Amino acid sequence: MKKLFIKTYGCQMNVYDSARMADVLASLGYAPTATAEDADMVILNTCHIREKAAEKVFSELGRLKPLKARKEKRGEKLLLAVAGCVAQAEGDEILARAPHVDIVIGPQTYHRLPELVARVAREGAAVLDTEFPAEPKFDFLPAAAHGAGVSAFLSIQEGCDKFCTFCVVPYTRGAEISRPVADVQSEARQLVTHGAREITLLGQNVNAYHGSAADGASWGLGRLIRTLATIEGLLRIRYTTSHPLDMDDELVTTHRDVPQLMPFLHLPVQSGSDRVLKAMNRRYRVDDYRRAIERLRRARADIALSSDFIVGFPGENDAEFEDTMTLVAEVGFAQAFSFKYSRRPGTPASLLPDQVPEDVKAERLERLQGLLADQQRQFNAAAVGATMPVLFEKPGRHAGQLVGRSPYLQPVHATAPDAFLGCIAPVTIRRTEPNSLSGVLAAEGSA
Ligand code: SAH
Ligand code: SF4
Ligand code: F3S
Repeated sequence: MKKLFIKTYGCQMNVYDSARMADVLASLGYAPTATAEDADMVILNTCHIREKAAEKVFSELGRLKPLKARKEKRGEKLLLAVAGCVAQAEGDEILARAPHVDIVIGPQTYHRLPELVARVAREGAAVLDTEFPAEPKFDFLPAAAHGAGVSAFLSIQEGCDKFCTFCVVPYTRGAEISRPVADVQSEARQLVTHGAREITLLGQNVNAYHGSAADGASWGLGRLIRTLATIEGLLRIRYTTSHPLDMDDELVTTHRDVPQLMPFLHLPVQSGSDRVLKAMNRRYRVDDYRRAIERLRRARADIALSSDFIVGFPGENDAEFEDTMTLVAEVGFAQAFSFKYSRRPGTPASLLPDQVPEDVKAERLERLQGLLADQQRQFNAAAVGATMPVLFEKPGRHAGQLVGRSPYLQPVHATAPDAFLGCIAPVTIRRTEPNSLSGVLAAEGSA
């Protein structure tokens, strides 16, 4: 048995891809291991979204170089692969800067890994595959075997056609494609058979999903979720990441009608200024975002919201940044991610004049994150005293404790027997920690 270590950076789509790469390589006899030291093959599944993310890859490759040399001295091998979005964007540079890398493989071709592993063995030279094949990788991947966890990811869509001016994704992951409905259904069923009780449907623009169905029609995400909800044993459904432009009525009413669809939505707005949104090519105005939130809240009053924000987009002035602060104050987010604008090679925004100075970006980020952290604290504090259904996912840090998630994606710690893993049980929340809640099983709590 050979051993495989995969280190995953970036978004959930990369987490899904890493699991699928492990499935593909299982056919060559590779079993997962927890450290690079222990491995015969290491894959770095990389992210190119911000400069920092991309830099991490080169420093990790630097760390792996002596390990590979040590192994070779002992007569062992370490096959080193770089996958994901940095591989796609900077493949040639990786091979030039890190000649100890054996395989460079983009996000759309990892079903060809066995072929590339064989080629490296045969030719003894590095290989690169960063094509965007006409046939999507999903057509060639083996059945998913990675569903061991209670909560599983399922990519239903790849790539992005939105071309926001700051973003590398349309270049690294290619054009948007949706997997056919039947494929999604069968993978979801497999995951449930392997023990998944919650599935998060993934796509960079997942609510633009339009998969072909057996009836010849093209189904949107709402319709897809309605059929997945009929799978027995699938207790919870989530989806991410959504674009505000694609929040159609069918999806909104699905939030009203389908109890398995959790009342938590990550809906990135990026900025609260119409001028900045336009320069970002987001294709909606702040009012459109407000209306989308209103529609969602009418459909599902308790829906909790999350977002991404970029501060210091080129040309963003103080007043425009204040508009973002105002929007945040108005909407109230349960949690959110916020970033300083990072100039990415090849994107239109990287060429704009008026790049915002680093210290201004840092100051804006600190203020925004302060506000968002307050909102998150308030949201969590409001849960204290409430009893909510928690899906238990894994053992907690302390003996006898399990960790699960609330409907609003908050991690919840509670003392519960292992038999509760994979089950939903009511928990009365007693305390909030910085990033989680803790409570007691409701039956106990009332005793
Ligand atoms: N498809 C998702 C976002 C994917 S990237 C969407 O449209 O919302 C995740 C987040 O990274 C983005 O929402 C954005 O906030 C941030 N991001 C992307 N490019 C960035 C850049 N060049 N600089 C800073 N943040 C960026
Ligand atoms: Fe990037 Fe915009 Fe596509 Fe999201 S919608 S992946 S931010 S281009
Ligand atoms: Fe990063 Fe690629 Fe995801 S750039 S955020 S890993 S799609």
